[in-house]
Amino acid sequence: MIESIRDRLHACWVRSDEIFGLLEAEALLDQPIGLRHPLIFYLGHLPAFSWNQVCRGVLGKPSFRPEFDSLFERGIDPMGVDSYRSSTPWPPIDEIIDYRDRVRRALLAAVEAVAERRNDGAPAENGRIFEVAIEHELMHQETLQYLLLQMPLSKKRRPRSLAPYRFEGAAENAVVEVGGGPVTLGADFEKLHFGWDNEFPELVTEVNDFAIDRTPVRHAEYLEFIEDGGYERPELWRTDDWEWRQRIGLDHPLSWIRDNGGWTYQSMFDRLPLDRVSDWPVYTSHAEAEAFCRWRGGRLATEAEFHRAAYTTPDGGTREFPWGNDPPAGRHGNFGFRHWAPTPVGSFTDGDSAWGVAELVGNGWEWTGTVFGPYPGFAAHIASYPGYSADFFDGLHQVMLGASWATPAQLVRRSFRNWFQRHYPYQFAKFRCVQDS
Ligand SMILES: [Fe+2]
Repeated sequence: MIESIRDRLHACWVRSDEIFGLLEAEALLDQPIGLRHPLIFYLGHLPAFSWNQVCRGVLGKPSFRPEFDSLFERGIDPMGVDSYRSSTPWPPIDEIIDYRDRVRRALLAAVEAVAERRNDGAPAENGRIFEVAIEHELMHQETLQYLLLQMPLSKKRRPRSLAPYRFEGAAENAVVEVGGGPVTLGADFEKLHFGWDNEFPELVTEVNDFAIDRTPVRHAEYLEFIEDGGYERPELWRTDDWEWRQRIGLDHPLSWIRDNGGWTYQSMFDRLPLDRVSDWPVYTSHAEAEAFCRWRGGRLATEAEFHRAAYTTPDGGTREFPWGNDPPAGRHGNFGFRHWAPTPVGSFTDGDSAWGVAELVGNGWEWTGTVFGPYPGFAAHIASYPGYSADFFDGLHQVMLGASWATPAQLVRRSFRNWFQRHYPYQFAKFRCVQDS
């Protein structure tokens, strides 16, 4: 157990270092998205969070760099602001790296001390506090990726592990009829090794019959929506979504670039003609996804419908993953940083659900029509981080499920929930359409 925690901390840091290593050093001061801190903040935030949770929080250790503990403590939730400009004079990078390395040594040394502490009933403490630290860093690795996507190509180095892009092998779309019935959301705290507060408690609910697209919406389909005036027809958009679209002048997905009457696609390290990636899933804001579904005469799946299609079987069973109960592996979908890019939709057929729905996990989080909120009986149980979920129960965030290519396999679990505002266009979020049967 102790060695496993140390190994996983190491593996997590190797990945973080690889991601920061994609940047030229001076690029750390860039602020690729106006609503987020400059990249340098995250270099300090990852160790500061772990220090504050584990060493200072659980073990009560005295701070060795208190001004860093607070400077790097919290990110920004871009609620209600259109842009944020940092006025913080950031410390020298070598001082932040020194702080990071000291925190890492302290964390490794803390594993036994934390394990020896009596479990006083606080669910996130003792061994679980390391899961808080590790999963926090894993989630930031993904959000760092979408910040990096907005950086000029000239400021990024290609990773050695960059695999060739895949353009072939997409699955055909089809309409899959899913029978209604019970579905279990969330998890039982006693049965799950670790989960965040919003994953508990278990909630059994029912869904009616519905029909769902076999594959997520791909670029070629989305191009039809654009060419049919999808961004010019207010009747397809919710009023506040339309106002937002008009205000920021949004008339295409963020990764598309108009180019001599055609389209180019911006991936992390290359620009590719859109027609080469016509089978890759389109990543959009929630507002755009809903407008597309309305254009097609459908809607987004609810959180419960997504679970029904992904994790139940036609004969009444339940699975841990869409493909069954085997742990997530490369053949099941595009997650875990293996491709550094999307892949053609539905091409990992081993990941299909029992109903025959493709790619519910991997290749992009999937937008749902469900507003993020607590399951009945929710408790903000992470004493040191009470606002992790509760700060976002505001009716303005939508649930996203599944995983993207930048989501580590450790976060691929049935009860994991992600959420974003409707008007945030940066995250790797795909969608598919549903219709009532
Ligand atoms: Fe954070």
